[in-house]
Amino acid sequence: METEVLTTTEQKLQDFERRNEAAFVGGGSDRIAKHKQGGRLTARERLDVLLDPGSFVEIDRFVTHRCTNFGMDDQKIPGDGVITGYGRVNGKIVYVYSQDFTVFGGSMSRTQANKIIKIMDLAVKNGSPVIGLNDSGGARIQEGVEALGGYADIFLRNVTSSGVVPQISAIMGPCAGGAVYSPSLTDFVFMVKKTSYMFVTGPEVIKAVTHEEVTKEDLGGATTHASKSGVAHFATEDDRHCLLMIRELLNFLPSNNMDDPPILPTKDRPDRVEESLNSFIPDNPKKPYDMIQLITKVVDEGYFLEVHKAYAANIVVGFARLNGRPVGVVANQPQVLAGCLNIEASVKAARFIRFCDAFNIPVVTFVDVPGFLPGTDQEWNGIITHGAKLMYAYAEATVPKITIITRKAYGGAYDVMSSKHLRGDINMAYPTAEIAVMGAEGAVNIIFRSAINNAKNQAAERTQLTKDYEAKFANPYVAAEAGYIDEVIEPATTRKRLIDSLEMLKNKRDFNPPKKHGNIPL
Ligand code: HXC
Repeated sequence: METEVLTTTEQKLQDFERRNEAAFVGGGSDRIAKHKQGGRLTARERLDVLLDPGSFVEIDRFVTHRCTNFGMDDQKIPGDGVITGYGRVNGKIVYVYSQDFTVFGGSMSRTQANKIIKIMDLAVKNGSPVIGLNDSGGARIQEGVEALGGYADIFLRNVTSSGVVPQISAIMGPCAGGAVYSPSLTDFVFMVKKTSYMFVTGPEVIKAVTHEEVTKEDLGGATTHASKSGVAHFATEDDRHCLLMIRELLNFLPSNNMDDPPILPTKDRPDRVEESLNSFIPDNPKKPYDMIQLITKVVDEGYFLEVHKAYAANIVVGFARLNGRPVGVVANQPQVLAGCLNIEASVKAARFIRFCDAFNIPVVTFVDVPGFLPGTDQEWNGIITHGAKLMYAYAEATVPKITIITRKAYGGAYDVMSSKHLRGDINMAYPTAEIAVMGAEGAVNIIFRSAINNAKNQAAERTQLTKDYEAKFANPYVAAEAGYIDEVIEPATTRKRLIDSLEMLKNKRDFNPPKKHGNIPL
């Protein structure tokens, strides 16, 4: 911007106005028009959708880069490709940055990093979430190591802020190379279908190195990351949907780790009896049912915000409210892989539980699990280590933990799924619960192998022994007699029993021994 001597207040105000306008047009109208093709919003429009109307306060609007390489000193755009500041979501302060692809492709310069770092530091000092809207060609190529250093300074803050304030990333355009690591260090990653992608190395490099041919979308689009890799927690339809979903998620979260999650009044009665649950669990233990239906019958107004919906669907995780109080729900899904725990499900649920524990959100667990998924694929890829993550997450969590066994709780999976032994606070079971080392048929085949082999009518012997085993173990009462189940409940009263338990555990205080940090089996 040219410098002229300004003498009057009016001139100074006009100059101020001009400078603001230059910042508002970013990379200019042509680049904005190109950017908006395909329905994408500009960096500022995104903030308008994300934040409560009129609440955004910009910081560092006039920052420019200091690069002099390749004629960059002649190309300065106020803001330098990222809009930073704070605003409100449903009345609560959040810190935000929104990369502007129209300015040097939203690329990360030293000064862009400094702007982001400034709001990240403010967020931690003041205890509010950070939301990053990513849309960038990566490190500013003209700057070299200055840009790389800027990234690493952000990564460091992602790590030190982890568990202190919620961090949410939206990928709303390109996000490639090392740039992917800031979002992946945050708590939740949102992606926009068709217009966003994330990968460490792109299709061209992959083709050159491994000769694989893959499109950007297949390699790292929203659907891929939400279903195959699990990198994305939410795949959204377009920019607007993405931003509204972030607002939705924030509704469940406290501002920081010292804060309680926000309670919302509800018209749903805490003692609502859900009669349909008394006939919900099928008579045949091999018959699947939809655990999400069960969850929605119980929680406030049937509203369940599922996280990682398309990934490892054999376990369900997400947020809901019980009498206005946010809870994290973890539940086996008998409809997918019979609800078995596998590597992906273990990691998905462990990560979710650790988030809830860090941010004072009680965990409600619904259990219907026949065990860990058998197979060489699982063993060779480390189900032992990954399953241990889930065990670790439940065991270390000190938030209120309430468990309901609806049907199967077999073997190690019984222990893992928020059992009494891992400090479950209240462990309930339906009368349909079956708590045993394994299913009756498998158990009988092992412990009565010779009796069956020696029997005249092997099939009849097996059937009889299976019935005997079922009669002994296919119920919740052996565990209830041992005090491992606190209460066997009528399914229709699930909502009331959960709310009573939550209320009772409201002031729970529990601690782990002092240590630098544990060593979760990564
Ligand atoms: C500087 C960049 C840039 C970058 C894009 N631009 N990426 N400027 N540094 N990294 C500029 C372009 O010069 C162009 O400027 C404008 O942004 C828009 O770019 P286009 O190429 O016209 O857009 P499009 O066709 O949509 O392609 C988008 C793109 C492509 C796929 C992202 O720009 C691209 O491949 N960029 C380079 C990506 C990259 O290799 N980045 C470094 C990765 S390594 P004009 O003036 O023409 O509008 C990395 C390491 C991080 O990031 C390590 C952290 C640890």
